[in-house]
Amino acid sequence: MYNLNMPYRLVSPRMLKEAVEQTGVAWAAFLLRQDVGLDIGASAGLEKPGMNRLVQLLKDKDFFNWLVTSIEKDKQRTRKISEPGVSCSELTVFPLYSLQAVLLVGSNGKLAPGVAQFWKFMVHTIEDLTGDSEERTRRLQEVVTELQETQQELQARISAQRDAEMRLVQAAKLAAVGEMSAGVAHELNNPLTTVVGFTELALDSLPVDSPLYADLDLVLREAKRARSVVRRLLDFSRQSESDRNRASLNELVEDVLALTKHLMHTNQVQPAVELENDLPWVVMDRNQIKQVILNLVQNGLYAMPRGGQLTVRTFGRARYERNWVVVQVTDTGVGIPPENLPKIFEPFFTTRSTQGGTGLGLSVTYGIVTDHGGMIEVESQLDQGATFTVWLPLEHEHVAA
Ligand SMILES: Nc1ncnc2c1ncn2[C@@H]1O[C@H](COP(=O)(O)OP(=O)(O)OP(=O)(O)O)[C@@H](O)[C@H]1O
Ligand SMILES: [Mg+2]
Repeated sequence: MYNLNMPYRLVSPRMLKEAVEQTGVAWAAFLLRQDVGLDIGASAGLEKPGMNRLVQLLKDKDFFNWLVTSIEKDKQRTRKISEPGVSCSELTVFPLYSLQAVLLVGSNGKLAPGVAQFWKFMVHTIEDLTGDSEERTRRLQEVVTELQETQQELQARISAQRDAEMRLVQAAKLAAVGEMSAGVAHELNNPLTTVVGFTELALDSLPVDSPLYADLDLVLREAKRARSVVRRLLDFSRQSESDRNRASLNELVEDVLALTKHLMHTNQVQPAVELENDLPWVVMDRNQIKQVILNLVQNGLYAMPRGGQLTVRTFGRARYERNWVVVQVTDTGVGIPPENLPKIFEPFFTTRSTQGGTGLGLSVTYGIVTDHGGMIEVESQLDQGATFTVWLPLEHEHVAA
């Protein structure tokens, strides 16, 4: 019957025994309310026959109600009893409301003085115990706070470590996704081309007012969308077959801006261009780097649904004892919440899934840039905009001292 649950522990057989002995009541029991019935949590002073009788009494509906009413009304109650087994002439019940329990005391003589003493004794003991446990809780709280501080310190170290590992993991992820997507994309490309082709044929032979026309048109649009995702995946996995030559970064920026001029205009975005003169040419895959700039410009445009300014800058800079050419794309858009910053280069991470974003733009960009021996960095303030900076190494030379 003795249980490790808190209410059971609160009143132990030993406590009851002490209370019975000190106050001279006949016996006492600690009863806890359960789903059905009352459970004997502890007892003292009852011999086996008395105990059996009590168990039986608890099954009696009237008796049970009498006890439970005491809990529900939070009220002490007394009644006479003439049961041979229970060796007492009176029963008193004391409610322990917050525990949903009672103390039942058997005594002889009308409200024997011991009964009141018994209750006092128990209240004191329970208060001491609860007081104690409050003290224990306080100390535990201190330990928990200390532990939390240690954990925070650990967390800070772990996150520093994680930052250092992130680049490696990113590269590994990209390789894995590249491999996987190549397989999937190849499998999907042919059937999608068939779906698109045959839907176009079917549409051609349908009158425009046919009820099927709109449905088939939707099939065609969705199939084309799927195909464009597949194409991007294919581009992604073809990164290694690059075709590199010396090229002018400024020229590529101008190409991309010419391509997106119309888009900027319709989005009420002001372009600002600051290209450094005489920027050295860099060995690169022109199409891939164009793709990089385009992805960044497109992201910037999407981040400014109500217009804004998009600045593209190029310049040369020395860093880490090397020379680099740098292209920087800055928007005045919604910005990136700090919690998203570590994720934006992950394949398939997008906050624009409902607007057709696949979350591949930046991971492709990252893959291309690192493939060129370069780096990409991002800075952003929420609601202020974002700046993406791409560093491309000017060959593998060192800066003259
Ligand atoms: N300039 C930016 N301003 C604000 N958020 C950005 C910016 N660039 C990227 N992001 C955030 O990073 C996420 C990932 O960008 P990414 O280019 O990889 O995918 P996408 O633009 O959502 O989809 P996709 O490029 O495949 O069409 C975006 O969904 C957006 O939440
Ligand atoms: Mg994008």
